[in-house]
Amino acid sequence: MPEPTGYSDLDALLPRLDAVPALAADALDAERTAVLGRKSGVLTAALKTLASLPVKERKRYGAALNRLKERFEAAFQARAEAIETERRRREGAGIDLTMPGRRHWVGAEHPVTKVVDEIVGIFRELGFAVATGPEVETDWYNFLALNFPADHPAMDMHDTLYLDAPPADGEPSGRLLLRTHTSPVQIRTMLAAPPPVRVVIPGMVYRNDAMDASHLPAFSQIEGLAVDEGISFVDLKATLTHFAHRFFSPGTRTRFRPSFFPFTEPSAEMDVECQLCHGSGCPACKGTGWMEILGCGMVHEAVLENVQLDPERYTGWAFGMGPHRIALLRYGVPDIRLLLGGDMRFLEAVGRPGVAGGGE
Ligand code: PHE
Repeated sequence: MPEPTGYSDLDALLPRLDAVPALAADALDAERTAVLGRKSGVLTAALKTLASLPVKERKRYGAALNRLKERFEAAFQARAEAIETERRRREGAGIDLTMPGRRHWVGAEHPVTKVVDEIVGIFRELGFAVATGPEVETDWYNFLALNFPADHPAMDMHDTLYLDAPPADGEPSGRLLLRTHTSPVQIRTMLAAPPPVRVVIPGMVYRNDAMDASHLPAFSQIEGLAVDEGISFVDLKATLTHFAHRFFSPGTRTRFRPSFFPFTEPSAEMDVECQLCHGSGCPACKGTGWMEILGCGMVHEAVLENVQLDPERYTGWAFGMGPHRIALLRYGVPDIRLLLGGDMRFLEAVGRPGVAGGGE
């Protein structure tokens, strides 16, 4: 029991003071008004009786009254704080601090899209336009106009995917197939407008190949074609070397090896120094220090004649490269199938800024 005040009317309030620490929030508000309220509070009422007391008595009673008032105020204050602390504790009990936060997913460009855009961008800087053509071609555009002999093994049913449908009106007659390279768009471009021609041609191509770590039955290519008066192999070599320096790094070494394509003469394959070992030889480059990135050559006279261009007046060069393969080199990806898998862990790892070539 709290210390008595010496006045029975005030002592009668002590049990109520004693009860304050157990009051609930709403009861606490009501009790504060009942005791201290300006209009009807019991202590306020007692204060009003002071004036009618004799002076000496008034001092003692007034002092007791004030002490009791202060004790009530302190008790109400302490109880209000305890209620607030308890409320916060209970609110916090609903939060599991160990639960992982909600992830904010940010999309990224697919590595192959990135590589295509970058390659096309480098050639656009050099004044090349972008051309496209149909993925369903006739065998004339895909093979014959490109100087493949009619019995070339590339045209075999087992090598190419044919469609069981007649060509559309106005197309040169021939069987329909899924194009095996973007080179038929060379023919379409040269037929569409006279030289000078400078185009890059990105697109998908299809081959009757089984899928493995380095082959896909559908993959991307970027074709390049430049035709004008006075174009030489020097232009080809200079342009493609510039490309390698822009796309890989300024010091990247390149080499051209003789090769064969029916539609170019002479033909070459271009290698860049292995991007992983920089020439010393590693498993990725099979110990050679080089990686092949494209096929190229001077446009064959027979091809120019097939599109009614005079080979005495015009010359040109062309190249074809595979962005899927180039994405493997650039990102050090060991298996081409990862590029099709849609595995977010892979796509995020190569798409994140800070990964080589992934920052722009
Ligand atoms: N079309 C060839 C291929 O798919 C590449 C190439 C294009 C070669 C242009 C020379 C010139 O392999």
